[in-house]
Amino acid sequence: MADLAKAGLLLELDHEETVATITLNRPERRNAQSPTMWKGLADLGDELPETVRIVVLKGSGPSFSAGIDLRLFTPEGMPGEPSVLADGIGPEELVDQIGVYQEGFLWLRDPRFTTIAAVHGHAIGAAFQLALSCDIRIAADDVQFCMKEPALGLVPDLTGTKPLVDIVGLPRALELCLTARVIDADEARELRLVERVVKADELDGAVEELVNALLRVEVGAARATKELLQKAPGHTLGEQCLAERRAQVGRLLRNG
Ligand code: CAA
Repeated sequence: MADLAKAGLLLELDHEETVATITLNRPERRNAQSPTMWKGLADLGDELPETVRIVVLKGSGPSFSAGIDLRLFTPEGMPGEPSVLADGIGPEELVDQIGVYQEGFLWLRDPRFTTIAAVHGHAIGAAFQLALSCDIRIAADDVQFCMKEPALGLVPDLTGTKPLVDIVGLPRALELCLTARVIDADEARELRLVERVVKADELDGAVEELVNALLRVEVGAARATKELLQKAPGHTLGEQCLAERRAQVGRLLRNG
């Protein structure tokens, strides 16, 4: 299993090991993220027990996460972390390196899991993208999303641009990214970036309510349905109808 403490992560398994709660746990740095944290997340995706079907992602302390640890961009770097721009690294190597970082985000789309981000306080840059990697976002009323990368001379590159455009559409995604402005809870709900907003002290309860509702559906049906729904945006109606038929046959004949 990944060295979770080194990665700044906590893992709890509940509901007879069907629900994994992953906490970003570096509150003194507002859960700022690093390559080691992303590796820890990717490893969890590979190593969670087979029984796990729901993943909840949350942050400890006042914020969900303040995004990438900005020390990674300084000449001094971040203790224990390789520099993002190692001496002599070439463009293709850097492309591959960012690809490895993205694995910490991509696994949350796996149909094995239904993934929930419980977001409170700041969710900036990499943190906004991590929340966008989850299937469902529930937010506290103090949430502040911000896609800050363009304001730092960068682009959002941690898998968040596709879900952002899919959810809010291209014009709004452009406006949000190119102004790097803060999106509060009311606006996040209006834009469907979050499915529900609750008072900060009710966030854990709201997540538990959702988890209990999700657990009432049979696990195989949940996995097959997520896989089917994920295909819909890239399919024509005919292709999606075929995918529905195939998935249903898979369900109907699963014991035959
Ligand atoms: N990296 C490293 N350290 C961070 C950090 C970050 N992203 N965010 C906060 N911290 C540290 C602060 O330096 C501070 O440390 P000290 O106590 O040692 O001074 C501690 O965490 C607490 O931070 P604040 O006192 O600033 O806390 P706050 O509640 O007043 O403000 C905040 C919180 C608004 C998130 C503010 O800390 C902030 O703006 N942080 C930077 C956010 C940011 O720009 N992130 C990068 C986004 S871009 C990205 O993620 C992706 C990419 O690829 C570039």
